[in-house]
Amino acid sequence: MDEERLVMSGFREEEDDQEGSLRPKTLREYVGQQAIKDSLNIYIQAARQRRDSLDHILLYGPPGLGKTTLAGIVAAEMGQNIRVTSGPAIERAGDLASLLTNLSSGDVLFIDEIHRLSHAVEEVLYPAMEDYALDIMIGKGPSARSIRLDLPKFTLIGATTRAGSLSAPLRDRFGIIFRLQMYSTEELMQIVRHSAAVLGIEAEEDGVREIARRSRGTPRIVNRLLKRVRDYAQVRGDGVITCKAAREALTLLDVDELGLDRVDRNILTTMMKKFDGRPVGLDTLAATTGEDAVTIEDVYEPYLMQLGFIMRTPRGRVCTQAAYDHMKIAMPAEARAAGRIEGQTSLLE
Ligand SMILES: Nc1ncnc2c1ncn2[C@@H]1O[C@H](COP(=O)(O)OP(=O)(O)OP(=O)(O)O)[C@@H](O)[C@H]1O
Ligand SMILES: [Mg+2]
Repeated sequence: MDEERLVMSGFREEEDDQEGSLRPKTLREYVGQQAIKDSLNIYIQAARQRRDSLDHILLYGPPGLGKTTLAGIVAAEMGQNIRVTSGPAIERAGDLASLLTNLSSGDVLFIDEIHRLSHAVEEVLYPAMEDYALDIMIGKGPSARSIRLDLPKFTLIGATTRAGSLSAPLRDRFGIIFRLQMYSTEELMQIVRHSAAVLGIEAEEDGVREIARRSRGTPRIVNRLLKRVRDYAQVRGDGVITCKAAREALTLLDVDELGLDRVDRNILTTMMKKFDGRPVGLDTLAATTGEDAVTIEDVYEPYLMQLGFIMRTPRGRVCTQAAYDHMKIAMPAEARAAGRIEGQTSLLE
């Protein structure tokens, strides 16, 4: 994959430290996602009044929107400890069993990338989530028997970028399911202002807006771009983030006015030119652009769809007129005709 990619919103080790300091710690500090915060406030208050643990929560949405952050906040607001792990880290059923038996009453267990749990591990999770119990097999062969261990009451918070790959039985065991939305420019500006203050960066309002507008609706990207623009402003200017500094720095990084980078533009031009605007399947698109299909679906496509640049039709992905306009490429007549037909059928549905 492209390691230079700056707007990539996956987790990057070296930024861990600073991400930590920029991470909001309370629900009040957590910007945006108003509907989720409103619900959580009620559920948390109700659980605390009953001195009960919170129901299991599933958070899903594209990378960098604040799932891990929110899980930490929920534990903090409940006044409980959080244990953090991830789907791929739990290799065997026994790993999960030992995690579960080491929990204390009320603890929050956070499983990131929960869609990557193996089937055998999931089987252990079902009774744990539902009955706070662990079924373990003792002995082998005909004398084997299963005994049931009680577990403390805990709250499982699962996070995933792909709710669709979660098995139905697992999904059904979450009492609360939240889909995180991309952030508005105003919300991202709030995050930039806050991060700039934490990092001691001086930023003008126009500069803040420019960074927010180009961050694909994603807090992690907004923080990353802020740091890169700061570097630029420091070396080429007087250290203050102005609109001009932001524009120049982001242009240098190949991030365009809408936050699209080289890879996004490559996806769009491939669809427009190589396929002449005909519908393209995901795997074909992956093969032609040299990107991983999962990455296209999880990282690039959500924002391109949010912009209204890509549409999914029963026959594959197509670019919309807005995408052609942005890329300054004329829409092939054939694609335009097909678009009209799709448009009509979707109106009829
Ligand atoms: N609502 C928010 N308000 C302020 N800052 C936020 C918010 N959400 C996320 N951030 C910032 O963005 C960074 C990335 O968020 P986080 O790690 O929680 O994303 P994620 O959804 O877990 O991503 P991934 O899917 O890659 O694990 C955080 O370190 C934090 O600084
Ligand atoms: Mg995360």
